[in-house]
Amino acid sequence: MAVEITADMIIHEVVSKYPQTVKVFQGHGLPCTACQIGARESVAQGARTHRLNAEALVSDLNRVANGQEAEGIKPATKAPVGRGIPLNVMGAAPESKIRHIVAVMSGKGGVGKSLVTGLLAVALQRQGMKVGILDGDITGPSIAKEFGVRGQPRKSEDGIEPLRSVGGVKIMSMNMFLPDSTDPVVWRGPMVSSAIRQFYSDADWGNLDFLLVDLPPGTSDAPMTVMQSLPVDGVIIVSSPQMLATEIVVKCIKMVQTLKGRILGVVENMAYLTMPDGSRNEIFGPSNGNDLVYMTGAPLLAQLPIDPEIAMLCDAGKIEDYNSDAFDTLAGNFVKSLKVPVKHG
Ligand SMILES: Nc1ncnc2c1ncn2[C@@H]1O[C@H](COP(=O)(O)OP(=O)(O)O)[C@@H](O)[C@H]1O
Ligand SMILES: [Mg+2]
Repeated sequence: MAVEITADMIIHEVVSKYPQTVKVFQGHGLPCTACQIGARESVAQGARTHRLNAEALVSDLNRVANGQEAEGIKPATKAPVGRGIPLNVMGAAPESKIRHIVAVMSGKGGVGKSLVTGLLAVALQRQGMKVGILDGDITGPSIAKEFGVRGQPRKSEDGIEPLRSVGGVKIMSMNMFLPDSTDPVVWRGPMVSSAIRQFYSDADWGNLDFLLVDLPPGTSDAPMTVMQSLPVDGVIIVSSPQMLATEIVVKCIKMVQTLKGRILGVVENMAYLTMPDGSRNEIFGPSNGNDLVYMTGAPLLAQLPIDPEIAMLCDAGKIEDYNSDAFDTLAGNFVKSLKVPVKHG
């Protein structure tokens, strides 16, 4: 009997039943297969979010599920030009040993960039990958503390050796170079940029599957340095429900697009608080996930709740001990988003 996919079917159900339809969603410009929204939205709702023709999509889904060729798929666009200028001026850049560089960005501080960077590293590490974190927040570093890493990196023949977390994540952070971790770094932009470049080029990262770069807030020198002088594969944008209203996250998205970067995914942090009766209290307002997905063309990797346990674990340097459903969603969707080609925002 012929397969029939209807517009009211949930996206993730369609994809899990007919895996060959992933390329149809992708081809029509829906990254929903690695997206949290796809777990609850129907094909028609997904099409509406991306302002697409639902009829053409459903027709192609049915054609491909029934072994025919799709008709309405846009020709593949050229590979995104998100890779920055190689650091050949720096000499011994170990870029050949680092497979992917992903930067984590947000327009504003305190939104959870460092938390999301840390969680993504833990997720990749648990998948058996070799992971490093370059803490690009030179004046407000927090990665070393999250992972409970202390001390000064040693210098070897191949460069500075990043410190390692208990789970094996390699970390370079400005905190490691300060006599006292509460000492301020009172530097102007060019020095901050230079420190970031050195963390990349002078560190002996060895072989890495992923180098995650935790960026400082805003759209100033440091994010620009990372986007333009490191071969960044893509960017994860961290937002919180009220941020869209302040337009800060929009500036951030536009900056990535201006620099021809590729947005791999969006994470909505502090999306809600689970109340004792199990209900969700959206204390910062309703989710903006759909709008972010529409603006970036990238999947919503997760909506993370406000969770006192994660704050406590970060303060105690034990982020690697964290487990939760929302974290599993983030980890799963991030890994999925890396396997499928992502539409360029
Ligand atoms: N979902 C969350 N639940 C509880 N605490 C959080 C959550 N996200 C972030 N925090 C806490 O908020 C503070 C700021 O987060 P951080 O990741 O350092 O933000 P940013 O890097 O964007 O400035 C940290 O103490 C962190 O542990
Ligand atoms: Mg931070």
